[in-house]
This record gives sequence, structure tokens and C-alpha cells, in this order.
Amino acid sequence: MDSFVIRGTCRLEGAVRVSGAKNAVLPVMAASILTGGTCILENVPDLRDAKTMMQLLEVLGGSVSLDEGRAAIDTSRIDTFEAPYDLVRTMRASVYVLGPLVARYGKARVSMPGGCAWGPRPVDLHLKGLMALGAKVRIDHGYIDATADRLRGAEIILSIPSVGATINLIMAASLAEGTTVIENAAREPEVIEVAEALKRGGASIEGEGSSTVTVIGVNELNPFTHRAIPDRIEAGTIAAATVATGGDVTVEGCRPDHMHAVLDVLEQAGAEIETGEGTIRVKGAEEIRSVNIETGFYPSFPTDMQAQMMALLCKAAGASTISEHVYPDRFTHVPELKRLGASITLDGNVAVVTGRDRLEGAPVMATDIRASSALIIGGLMAEGETKVLRVYHIDRGYERIEEKLQRLGADIVRIRE
Ligand code: EPU
Repeated sequence: MDSFVIRGTCRLEGAVRVSGAKNAVLPVMAASILTGGTCILENVPDLRDAKTMMQLLEVLGGSVSLDEGRAAIDTSRIDTFEAPYDLVRTMRASVYVLGPLVARYGKARVSMPGGCAWGPRPVDLHLKGLMALGAKVRIDHGYIDATADRLRGAEIILSIPSVGATINLIMAASLAEGTTVIENAAREPEVIEVAEALKRGGASIEGEGSSTVTVIGVNELNPFTHRAIPDRIEAGTIAAATVATGGDVTVEGCRPDHMHAVLDVLEQAGAEIETGEGTIRVKGAEEIRSVNIETGFYPSFPTDMQAQMMALLCKAAGASTISEHVYPDRFTHVPELKRLGASITLDGNVAVVTGRDRLEGAPVMATDIRASSALIIGGLMAEGETKVLRVYHIDRGYERIEEKLQRLGADIVRIRE
């Protein structure tokens, strides 16, 4: 597995363009199953997870080509309805094929996603929602087995505004008979993204981006062409790295309107933020101020930015608290940041980070996508050499991050194995 060697400290400076959003591209790729034709998806980032989803669609009988970020996904010859363990265990988002397969073909067998690096991540809401739409669902030898003649619209009240469940159910309901109303739906931009792609194929969906989404099922959907939104978490990660290094970076090709909570917190930490049409200029201050962060569902502060913010607060003046409300155990980066000399105490889902004047480079281990980017930020802030092992995780969700950081002046190299 590759690793990164980072020599700190540094000051990031310049301009960088963000890639298409991983968490939008993955479900939109799965949504193409609903159309049974060739869908075009643009702005597809070159990521391990995007490749895994393409591989899964191919296993199902689809064919996918990717040329310079433009994917052509032909699902006209789907003849296999099983998402195997080997793929699902490397990428939980494989569960996005569940709703489309049941809705269009009346059957799906998807390996049950297990927990992930930081704890349990159930899919019960996906399954309950599909059952409400009339699917028969059972768990068989570690697989979710779902069948249905034709799904029927229903009212579904989600107990948690789950992004994955909302998206899976919108996809399934778009080919159901009748109207589905999803209450307490997730409001993330990635939900809007899937609805927009499906609407281009003739789906009837209203209210996406609000807590109530209404889907009037249609008999068939046409292939769509869609361009993925920019990755708000990649943009936020670069912004956080800029503040962490007291730098001055313009993030290009992003959507500042998707990033209010993150930009607010960075401003509280002392950054100067200037937003323009698709751009954010971030100027870090000499001193990072301590802040208190509560993660939550969109539009609150995203859990996917929690680790990166924690890294930068390791050098803030004073103590910051970070309360993790989406995944109470998502703290695998804490012991690794401590290896760089950070002072962090953890009590349940609350971390207290006491800023230090100086961090020191050390070998650290990446455990998931966002923990990895936090360790890179830590490495940029630490004196001397930091080796980040298992960057395999970062390649799942960040497109050639080291090249982007190099262009901004970071001393980071990939050691290939
Ligand atoms: N939940 C349940 N039951 C379910 C589904 C979710 O209890 O059936 C709970 C989860 O345990 C969690 C909360 O609901 O406490 C929210 O989970 P959600 O379903 O919204 O998360 P997800 O769809 O599995 C996506 C992103 C994650 C991101 C979360 C939260 C994708 C592919 N993944 O996951 O992204 O952290 O939403 O915003 O879109 C990442 O990119 O690094 C990443 C982990």
C-alpha cells in the first residue's frame, strides 16, 4: 500500500480546482440502472470508489467507459442482480444498487454492509423503506435479499434523515406505482443531485433538498446526461489545510452555497473568507482561534469535515470542543493526531482539543477517508517528516490530493509500493 511522506511545516498558497463529488457520483451511477439505457455522467473524479461502483455495474451486466471524467454507463443488459461481498466490503455505497435493482427488475441480492473503521453503520432504514414500498426483504447468509412484483408508493417517515436511505428510496420510488412521500428526508446537496439526474430521465420528484420529498412513480425512465456537483468535502479539506498552514488559497470550481457551516467555522477560527462565483479565497491568520463544533445533518456542520477541523485545531490558541452527533465513534484519527504531539481528550462523542504551539512529524496510519486527510493536514502543520501509511483510504475519496497540495507548495510525495 502506498504512503505519503510530508515535510512540514509549510504555507499553502495559490489556486486549486476541486473534483466532482464522490458522494454524488456514486448514487447517480447506481441510478442509471433504473433507465436501462446509456446514461452520461460528467465530472467523474478518478477515485477508487468511483472505479468500484463501475466494477459493480459491470458485475451486474452493465458496461461502463470512462474518458477524461465522462462516464458512459450502459445498463441495458443487466442480467445479474447480486452485489457480492468482495465489492461491498470495500465500499459501503454499493448498497445504492439495492433500490434501483428491486424497482426495475423486482429482485436484488446485496451483501449486507458491515460496520466501518469507526463503528456500526446500519442500513435498517433503507430496508424498512423498501418494505414500506412493498418489497419483501430478508437477510440470508449475510446478504440482503429483496424481491417485489412492482413497488407501490407509500408514506415513509425516516427516524433519522439518512442520506443513503433517502437516496435509495427516491430511486426505488421513481419506478413505483403511485406516490411516495418521504418525511424527515436528508437535505444534503447529494440528494438533490440524484433527484435532478432522475428528473432529466423523466422522473417526477418534488421537494428534494427539503425534509419532505414527494416522488410520483412513472412506468419507465429514460437515460439521462448529468454533470456532477463539485465535492464540497474536498473543497472544505483544502480550505482547512489552508487555515492550518496560515496560507492563502483560492479554491476554484466549487459551490460556496453548499459550504456555509464549514466556512462559518473556519471564519470563527480566524480565517478570512471571500466567496465568488464558484470560488472561495481562504486566508489563514497567524493565530488559529479555538472553536466549538457540533456535527449534524445538512445544513449543519458535516461529519465528513470533523477530522480535518480537529487537525487544524491542534495548533489553535486555547481549547476547542468537537461534538460528533452523526457517528458518535468517528474518532479513529485521535490517537494518530496524538502521535504528532496533539493534546486531545475524548469523552464519549466529545473531543476536547487543546492547541499546542508545535506539532512534530511522526509515522501515522490512515484508517478511513477523512481521517487520512486530517493526518495530511497534521503532517503539513508538524515540524519534520510525517509518514502517512495506508493512503489507500485517501485514494478512495480524494483525486490525486498530493498533486493538488504540491501545486500549492506542500512538500508531499507518494511512496509507491
Ligand atoms: N443510519 C441508521 N440506519 C440506516 C442508515 C443510517 O441508523 O439505515 C444512521 C447512521 O448510523 C448515521 C446516520 O444515520 O448515524 C446518518 O447516516 P447516513 O445514512 O446519512 O450516511 P450514509 O448515507 O451511509 C453518507 C456518506 C458518508 C457521510 C454520511 C453522513 C456516501 C457514500 N457516504 O453515508 O460519507 O459521512 O452520509 O453525511 O454518501 C465519506 O465520504 O467519507 C463518508 C463516510
